[in-house]
Amino acid sequence: MTREQSFLPNPSRINIPFVLDIIIVSNPEQIKRIESSSDVDRLHAYPTAELPWWVKYYLSATRFHTPQDDNWFLPFESSANREYQKRRSQMDDQIARGYRPQDITKIADLLVSNADDSDLSFHMAQLIAGRFSQAEIPLDICLAGRETLQRLPEAINPVRYAQAKKAHGKLYDFCAHNLLDDYHLVDAGQHTIAGAAKSMVDALHILKENINLPVDKIFTKNPITLQAPRIAIRDSDLGGLLKSKTKPGWTVVIFQIAKAAQKTSDLYFTFGTGTSERACSFMNFFLDFMKDLQMELIDRTASVD
Ligand code: HEM
Repeated sequence: MTREQSFLPNPSRINIPFVLDIIIVSNPEQIKRIESSSDVDRLHAYPTAELPWWVKYYLSATRFHTPQDDNWFLPFESSANREYQKRRSQMDDQIARGYRPQDITKIADLLVSNADDSDLSFHMAQLIAGRFSQAEIPLDICLAGRETLQRLPEAINPVRYAQAKKAHGKLYDFCAHNLLDDYHLVDAGQHTIAGAAKSMVDALHILKENINLPVDKIFTKNPITLQAPRIAIRDSDLGGLLKSKTKPGWTVVIFQIAKAAQKTSDLYFTFGTGTSERACSFMNFFLDFMKDLQMELIDRTASVD
């Protein structure tokens, strides 16, 4: 077994022949350049069966993939995928319906009263994922969403992995039976429920802890999504950055977008890879919601003083 690791600060590489080959990029300009090159694409540009074993193992216990029917969350699909535009429009259209003033009041009430994360998860899931569902999303399904794997190192612990797989199965079953017609099970169901119940609740705490900073600053200093993965689709040294070339379908490039967001203060790194192209469908909703909630929380503090 050999381990090749560049001593350059960026990118770094972990290459264990026949096991895995991962390149980690955190320099914002390098991320943008590699993303716009034709050296990499989204993971599911390759059929699932051909992907590196560790990618399948990890992602099948997250909100991003359903091995039951081989569905992938939209950012994992190549722009060349025939369904891409339709799925993107479906998400954009529903998210554009926005939220009501009483949603802001409700979440502010919960935050001010220091409600449990389970309460916050339940209400955020109805507010965001409810629009794609025929039925209320039960609390145990919101909590299952929170229990899916969030970070790669969690996959190493067999107890944590088994717990995440069980939660994943529960969440999948709910989505398979309760989504409104024609919505994608992962985009509208599994990812949205788990994202609302976990990432959005984390974001609410971050907002509350930084209540006097501008929202844009809060969420570039404290980005929620740490990384975005891509897969090599050709032999390449990534524009002279590598000593040995990538292997198509095997080398995975991890963009450390959170570090890039912190470094550049650019919200397009909080919600994508540094440009508006294929940025998160939910970005504008998120920013408007957080700004309204921030005003409500500040108003309440002022009226108490
Ligand atoms: C804290 C909340 C969220 C953050 C920080 C976030 C962040 C991101 C990031 C970084 C990407 C790009 C991933 C990549 O390039 O590989 C992305 C894509 C996407 N996100 Fe979000 N997201 C959030 C919540 C949501 C929610 C709740 C929804 C759905 C209601 C959503 C829908 C999408 C969609 C559909 C894409 C794919 C866009 C495309 O590829 O065209 N996101 N998000």
